[in-house]
Amino acid sequence: MNHIINKKRLGQELTREELSKSFGGYVDGNIPDYQMSALLMAICLNGMTEREILDLTDLFIQSGEQLDLSIIEGIKVDKHSTGGVGDKTTMVIGPLVASCGVSFIKMSGRGLGHTGGTIDKLESIPDFRADLTPEEMIDQVQKIHLAIADQTADLVPMDKKIYALRSVTGTVESIPLIAVSVMSKKIAGGADKILLDVKFGEGAFMKTKEEAEELAELMKKIGDHYHKEVRTLITDMNTPLGNSIGNSLEVVEAIRILKNEEHNVLTELCIELASNIVSMGKELSLAQARKEVETVLQDGSAYQKFLEFVKAQHGDLARLEISTKKQNIVAHKAGILKAIDAFKMGELSVMLGAGRKTKEDSIDPKVGIMIKKQLNDEIQVGDTLCTLYLGDQEPPEGIEEYFEIE
Ligand code: URA
Repeated sequence: MNHIINKKRLGQELTREELSKSFGGYVDGNIPDYQMSALLMAICLNGMTEREILDLTDLFIQSGEQLDLSIIEGIKVDKHSTGGVGDKTTMVIGPLVASCGVSFIKMSGRGLGHTGGTIDKLESIPDFRADLTPEEMIDQVQKIHLAIADQTADLVPMDKKIYALRSVTGTVESIPLIAVSVMSKKIAGGADKILLDVKFGEGAFMKTKEEAEELAELMKKIGDHYHKEVRTLITDMNTPLGNSIGNSLEVVEAIRILKNEEHNVLTELCIELASNIVSMGKELSLAQARKEVETVLQDGSAYQKFLEFVKAQHGDLARLEISTKKQNIVAHKAGILKAIDAFKMGELSVMLGAGRKTKEDSIDPKVGIMIKKQLNDEIQVGDTLCTLYLGDQEPPEGIEEYFEIE
């Protein structure tokens, strides 16, 4: 293993055998954390060639089961976001596209680091079952066109282990490693086509638009290799998405969008993503697909689909809880709201208990943050910038500084 680490440190290309020996050996328990961490850091610093990336994606896929969705009629489209703060789009998009008749079967992740995960959000609904077996997911999609569940342990186990190590060794922000991680899960998930929401900005893993574009290009190449159509949207994650951060709060916001009670940047992004999925799933132009999506949003059928989906997975929305212990954060200066630091807000939500500091931590679904002001709003001293919904953790000082007012 030392020889492999040294080779990568010197910027040399690893053979498939060397990748298999190191990554496979780690999953089998034969390579210790410290050696794998050193290799991951060398990859972060020196990158990977296209050949290495394709080989590693293949090793990731081969490390577990692959879903066969061929029994489900029609074109199956999957979607993935590279992670952000307040990103509750999957909960909105699923019902939107399913109401348009496109089958949406998605394995989602949990939050880690400053970013949230769809499964944690859905599990804030009491009794919601995210642990569906592949057979249960397929059965549900055949009935209602929609199932969202936790990634099963058998799907790309190599990613589960490597991602957990990356998240605590400063090796998440690597374009090749993110591309391999995302695309191996999407290919193993069995969908025919894939939509990728590649985020850039303060709250994303890619800080600049150029990096996000490079990542998107690379993921498309991996898709080509597996003969999967991949569409990418490059979207801004400098500001948290929507008004809420925190699990129950985000479910409530998703419901408000599906009930047509809120129209903001988040609503627009959900419509855009859903239109792309419907366009791929039904082979329609983007404009035609958008019309269908807007219709199911406006006539309430997408909201009804959300209720049907939650019920199918045993969730009891009537018992969804939000903390009653609140604290307002007020402005200390007047001016125009120029920015809200998505990274800091994500970290704050973790600190309050909405996310995990380590993989083993449990989360408090009732806590979070509700943002009260939009970018470019005029702010007076004493205006409430956000409301914290608190649990056992006390908030830090200086939260008003996360809001840039000029
Ligand atoms: N999302 C993933 O699934 N993997 C990564 O490596 C980063 C974001």
